Amino acid sequence: MIILGIESSCDDTSAAVVKDGYVLSNIMASQEVHEKFGGVVPELASRAHQQNIIPVVDQALHSAKVKLNELNAIAFTRGPGLMGSLLVGTSFAKGLALALNIPLIEVNHLHAHILSHFIKYEGKEEAIPAFPFLCLLVSGGHTQLVVMDNYQRINVIGKTIDDAAGEAFDKCAKVMGLPYPGGPVIDKLSKEGNADAFRFSKPKISGFNYSFSGLKTSFLYFVRDQIKIDPDFISKNKTDLAASIQKTIIEILIDKLKKAAEYTGIKHIGIAGGVAANSGLRNAIDREAEKLNWKVFMPEFRFTTDNAAMVAITGYFKALNEDYAPLSTTPDARMNI
Ligand code: KG4
Ligand code: ZN
Repeated sequence: MIILGIESSCDDTSAAVVKDGYVLSNIMASQEVHEKFGGVVPELASRAHQQNIIPVVDQALHSAKVKLNELNAIAFTRGPGLMGSLLVGTSFAKGLALALNIPLIEVNHLHAHILSHFIKYEGKEEAIPAFPFLCLLVSGGHTQLVVMDNYQRINVIGKTIDDAAGEAFDKCAKVMGLPYPGGPVIDKLSKEGNADAFRFSKPKISGFNYSFSGLKTSFLYFVRDQIKIDPDFISKNKTDLAASIQKTIIEILIDKLKKAAEYTGIKHIGIAGGVAANSGLRNAIDREAEKLNWKVFMPEFRFTTDNAAMVAITGYFKALNEDYAPLSTTPDARMNI
């Protein structure tokens, strides 16, 4: 079974080919146009998707050595995401499925992030999670704790009540005058900094829910106050600020993950989404795993941030159930899981 996956929910245009659960290609065109605006500009994102989609799909097929007439189905991200961006991928997928007369499969972007753990490739045939599987999904738009009972059934047991963890990284980076997306920059700076240099208060939220907007605000006020005393405060303390804010975000994430693991008794635990690329988070999870006897799953970097391989693998599992979408389907910017 050969599936073409298409991802265009935000600012990455990506296409991938998956054959019987194995990824054959995963091509990405990132959009640098947003950098100077300090965030994704929706109108520019859809235009760039429109320019990128054909070359990206073409390259994905070429590098997988798969011809159009060998495809069994086309999976695309239906949502959540930016409407203009989703429309490009959705319309392209519908057009191609109609032209090839093959089924269309709609994929929830969050579901795809979680199923990135099940992408197989040479050297990774066995190390996949067993169900029930507890996953911390941390992306730019979402922060959720989910339990998966099978490939399809996702039970959200906790989520952010305001900002996502990725947003906290990006907004704090912005306060420091760092480029967008800020997460990877903070990650890099943190390696040189003292994580105990500054302390920021953590939210007190019940259950398995998260909150990050208070942290962002306290970071902003703290930096503003310090700049009043020393205008060069940020440049003098860049690495320490990065390391301290990163440590706080990680502690907040891990605290609820540990509670959820204890409550559910689940030992197969993973992280997914863009923030799962964070080296501090990966190390912290490894440390907990050793202490608490968890079996931990972390996708390769190429499968953590937005990519079409995760869309294609989700499409593959849906195709096994013949869970197809009608050609009348439309994007859903606020799609839930
Ligand atoms: O999953 P993703 O690529 O897109 C969404 O679906 O939102 O996640 C993007 C987010 C951004 O907030 C970005 O700053 C963050 O992931 N991110 C990181 C790292 N790499 C990407 N955050 C912290 N450390 C990283 N290494
Ligand atoms: Zn994403």
